[in-house]
Amino acid sequence: MDRPRIIQLPKNGDRRGNLSVIEQLDRIPFKIERAFWIYDVPGGEYRGGHAYRESEEFIVALSGSFDVLVDDGTQKQVFSLNRSYYGLYVPKRMWRGMENFSTNSLALVLSSTPYDEADYIRDYEEFKQVKR
Ligand code: TYD
Repeated sequence: MDRPRIIQLPKNGDRRGNLSVIEQLDRIPFKIERAFWIYDVPGGEYRGGHAYRESEEFIVALSGSFDVLVDDGTQKQVFSLNRSYYGLYVPKRMWRGMENFSTNSLALVLSSTPYDEADYIRDYEEFKQVKR
């Protein structure tokens, strides 16, 4: 089974600032079908709290910081994201949540599938059964 992991991105820096880039099928292990972003998260809020049957994701903290909690049904891990030049790859069938958003944080999420509510597993017990 694939595992969640941090993937580094190029950082092209000069006196004008930095530029990082992601290209289709380069560095991240899926074809990008969708991008969405999460912002203006009030202090103390928790997002996610579900798994996807098929979607894989790559999450980058474009601004500020937050934590991503991932759980494969057996092992839980926390990844703190706070730089624009790396991100977290989350395989399918992984319970995930996001918390500890800093003020003005901006999370970019690239996904391997179009949005489909039927892809969500929102019940933790159902998730555990799917993993068995
Ligand atoms: P949701 O997946 O519940 O957010 P989170 O995982 O951060 O808790 O999505 C919030 C709302 O946005 C929900 O009404 C569905 C909608 N949405 C879309 O329309 N398209 C998308 O690609 C996503 C991710 C969400």
